[in-house]
Amino acid sequence: MATRMRWLGHACLLFECDGKHVLIDPFLSGNPKAAAKATEVSADFILISHGHSDHVGDAVAIAKRTGATVICNFEISQWLEKQGLKKVHGMLHGGGHTFPFGRVKLTLAFHGSALPDGSNGGNPCGFLLTCNDGKRVHDAADTGLFGDMKLIGEEGIDLALLPIGDNYTMGPDDALRAVKLLNPKRVVPIHYGTFPLIEQDAHAWAARVRKETAALPVVFEPGAWIDVSDARGKDSAQPRVSRGRQPLKRRRAK
Ligand code: NI
Ligand code: MN
Repeated sequence: MATRMRWLGHACLLFECDGKHVLIDPFLSGNPKAAAKATEVSADFILISHGHSDHVGDAVAIAKRTGATVICNFEISQWLEKQGLKKVHGMLHGGGHTFPFGRVKLTLAFHGSALPDGSNGGNPCGFLLTCNDGKRVHDAADTGLFGDMKLIGEEGIDLALLPIGDNYTMGPDDALRAVKLLNPKRVVPIHYGTFPLIEQDAHAWAARVRKETAALPVVFEPGAWIDVSDARGKDSAQPRVSRGRQPLKRRRAK
């Protein structure tokens, strides 16, 4: 089944992979740009990139409500068990595991990871997802630029999610360099605009990506969907995104 993704604001992403709902970094309560409520969002699996509150967010409450399995680094998985979660799956960097929706590999991220109560959140990570339809998605999560992004890119990325907010993560200049290292077919900027400190002009960044790289940048508002299985579009000025809950119509590959 085709893979699609909905940006729920900040770094929160909801994937539909092979009929499963895969929610990443579910910071919805207290997120001024949240496009869904923590009490309503669907989840079969929840991925957490690091311990900061704008990523752990509502994960515990959503996992308790939905029965979702939480996938994260080993230290955060232990912390989640102390919060009363039973279905947790700890992993560590470089390791992969195959789940019902596809394969997850933890990638490096240069950032912090202390948990909301001050507990040790281990090391932060990004994710490389290989969905059951073969599409590969890289969520760099919160990180600065690093040269080994080139190694991640060698795996062949259909869709990359990159932070551009600056201050806590890469800003637009380094995110542009990251696109050159990762060489994804399409790239979506995230982790910007949530608060004044990380305000950025995503459209200006997208114009630089179009000019300087082979990737197609896709800028959209929280709440919109993107069809990950869609072929690389030729008209980069009209990225294929949709608002609301209607499924995207498949367009013929060019
Ligand atoms: Ni963070
Ligand atoms: Mn963050």
